[in-house]
Amino acid sequence: MKIKTLLFSLFTLPLISGAAFAQTPIVIKFSHVVASDTPKGKAAERFKELAEKATKGKVRVEVYPNSMLYKDKEELEALQLGAVQMLAPSLAKFGPLGVKEFEVFDLPYIFPTKDVLYAVTEGQIGRDLFKKLESKGITGLAYWDNGFKLMSSNKPVHLPSDLKGQKLRIQSSKVLDAQMRAVGAIPQVLAFSEVYQALQTGVVDGTENPPSNLYTQKMHEVQKHVTVTNHGYLGYAVIVNKKFWDGLPADVRNDLDAAMKAATKYANAIAQQENDNALEAVRKSGKTTVYVLTEKEKAEWRKALLSVQKDMENRIGKDLIANVNKETARLGIK
Ligand code: LMR
Repeated sequence: MKIKTLLFSLFTLPLISGAAFAQTPIVIKFSHVVASDTPKGKAAERFKELAEKATKGKVRVEVYPNSMLYKDKEELEALQLGAVQMLAPSLAKFGPLGVKEFEVFDLPYIFPTKDVLYAVTEGQIGRDLFKKLESKGITGLAYWDNGFKLMSSNKPVHLPSDLKGQKLRIQSSKVLDAQMRAVGAIPQVLAFSEVYQALQTGVVDGTENPPSNLYTQKMHEVQKHVTVTNHGYLGYAVIVNKKFWDGLPADVRNDLDAAMKAATKYANAIAQQENDNALEAVRKSGKTTVYVLTEKEKAEWRKALLSVQKDMENRIGKDLIANVNKETARLGIK
């Protein structure tokens, strides 16, 4: 009897533990700082769905929205340490990591249309930027769109000079710092998760973001005025820990790549509509005024901010800025 039990254990235990091991999914912790009902939040959920389906249970994607796990700067450190595997930080947050070229996306008026943006993110410029992440232990997988930014404040803002002397929250980008200084404002870097409270308590007077972020963080409830300036752009780089990514079985990585491609298509397809809807919801809320610049005012903003492109050449690289502007010319856009 005893021998039988022993034999049973010898033959079946390895099978059982082998099966259990085979069923242990690879976990991708995907951390981000915005609400789930934003372009990025929705795309992250879509990636989870597609990735889990394609890998037939071999991969589990855990999405942690709203800075639940980490704030802006911490999440990049957590990715490098391997505490999370995937992030989608805004392109304005790579400077502190030492990859300041990403701040090209923050330059005022660098993208006259989304076509120019896509030519950059889906072309050689986008690929070259991703190569710069490799030495940081990071692999870039995709660019996800969000949208053009508006300004918000407690004072009406029609002209750039209306922001003079105001304390404005920015992301950790030197280009955004220069942009705010160009209109005489005082920029202050704050993590995204701290913006609502900073606006509410008057730590800062105003900020900038696309409507989807403004609305889902309820910033419009603590800002009296919103101005549709479209002066700059906000989008994302979906990134993974390089060691984790390179260590995946090739078939799994291929499936995840395909899931990421499909999620990216989805992200870029919904971004504009999500922002249009958010702006409409802000208008309807009646909690803030929404002002749209006249053509004459738009020209004043351009005049005040365009010089930032030149001023930031040393930081970002003259060639990189010129190459982006070449895409605009190639597409025949003025
Ligand atoms: C911000 O910090 O304002 C944005 O980058 C947040 C985000 O990820 O959209």
